[in-house]
Amino acid sequence: MSINTLDINDPMPLFESEWGATEFETRALRTLLGKYPTGVAIVATRTADGRNVGLTINSFASLSLEPPLVLWSLVNHSPNLSVFRDCEYFTISILAHDHQELALHFASARVENKFRGIAVQETPEGIPSIGGAIATLVCANHQQTHLGDHLLVIGQVKRIASIEGKPLVFHGGMFTGLHDVHEI
Ligand SMILES: Cc1cc2nc3c(=O)[nH]c(=O)nc-3n(C[C@H](O)[C@H](O)[C@H](O)COP(=O)(O)O)c2cc1C
Repeated sequence: MSINTLDINDPMPLFESEWGATEFETRALRTLLGKYPTGVAIVATRTADGRNVGLTINSFASLSLEPPLVLWSLVNHSPNLSVFRDCEYFTISILAHDHQELALHFASARVENKFRGIAVQETPEGIPSIGGAIATLVCANHQQTHLGDHLLVIGQVKRIASIEGKPLVFHGGMFTGLHDVHEI
């Protein structure tokens, strides 16, 4: 397959050279990045006045084992930018395959209290995490940098917990799951 072969469903790059497109619309880049499957997580914290705040993310990634660091990014126009900039701790709850509704709920803007009616576990640090998540990381807010249109947030992992279960997967703008791999 040639490197220039395009999926008919993908937006056309503006200019194609021998080796890929050097001019492209944001939409084309976004579609291309969507080809990389990710897990889905909810990042959460509690404000100084005791309000639980959380949102669905797929930008979560591991960064370092020693010291234990992870990262995620928050869009600059988020109404919760200052909350996550100023918090002491946050949790990352990695969602299970049957958490699709939960992922959509925490991705909806302007819901007054996203945590109402949700199974929440409080960590010893006094911040919320999502009940039934297959893995939970409690992170100290280690470092942040404004890069492009996002705030890059780096967390130092302070506490970990996990249960058995398959992850929810995000791919091509849709939720999906993992298939069992059979030995041949
Ligand atoms: C699968 C998925 C992944 C997302 N990943 C991110 C992310 O990494 N960073 C981000 O800022 N928003 C991300 N979003 C969008 C937020 O969840 C969404 O904007 C949400 O409304 C933010 O909540 P807020 O308005 O209460 O801050 C994602 C949404 C979905 C559905």
